[in-house]
Amino acid sequence: MITQRLLTRPLTVNRPLLRRAYTTKAPSAINQSIKSDHQALRDAYRHYEDNKNEKKEAQMWANKYIHDLARHSVAEEIILYPAFKTMLGKRGQEMAERDYEHQQVIKEIAFQLQSMKAGEDGFDMKFKELVSIVELHMKEEEEIDLPALDKGTTEADGHQLAEQFEKMKSFVPTRSHPSAPQNPVLQAAAGLVVTPFDKLMDQFRTFPSNQEKKVDE
Ligand SMILES: [Fe+2]
Repeated sequence: MITQRLLTRPLTVNRPLLRRAYTTKAPSAINQSIKSDHQALRDAYRHYEDNKNEKKEAQMWANKYIHDLARHSVAEEIILYPAFKTMLGKRGQEMAERDYEHQQVIKEIAFQLQSMKAGEDGFDMKFKELVSIVELHMKEEEEIDLPALDKGTTEADGHQLAEQFEKMKSFVPTRSHPSAPQNPVLQAAAGLVVTPFDKLMDQFRTFPSNQEKKVDE
């Protein structure tokens, strides 16, 4: 079972590593981009929880969560984790491998959730399972990976990565595809192939309108 698999490799914050990664520099542009996406995910889930008894509303926020999670995760796999490998040496390689593995678990659970509907038996529990794993993963990125990246790179690197990351999000699939290859080059190609179909499907899915999002902010 997916959760059991994850528990055999628990997501933990390594304190000595965290101390070494600490930096007094201001957070880089890529650090800010990633954290801002994380906050948007936390907000979407909070809105889902607040509207859990209204099926339509709950579904809209769950859709937004999955949509944002899919784009964020694939852009991280294509832009961020390869940067860990090339810019942070052996330690970056280890960080990237751990993150790819966690992303695979996250995508598999997100994929299961996509075939369920808000209000149905099991949906809320499955969504909670996804959110708790995503939260642990985000915490590890925020507390270990991003400070280490900031320490090992320049301000210009941070800006360039942020630009590539934001650009990539507009190309990647908007729904979870756990069977997509994890090799970044192949994945980029796979993403470009499925994106038009995903975008088409999204027209038939409901999302919170800009006005609704503003009211809830
Ligand atoms: Fe992330």
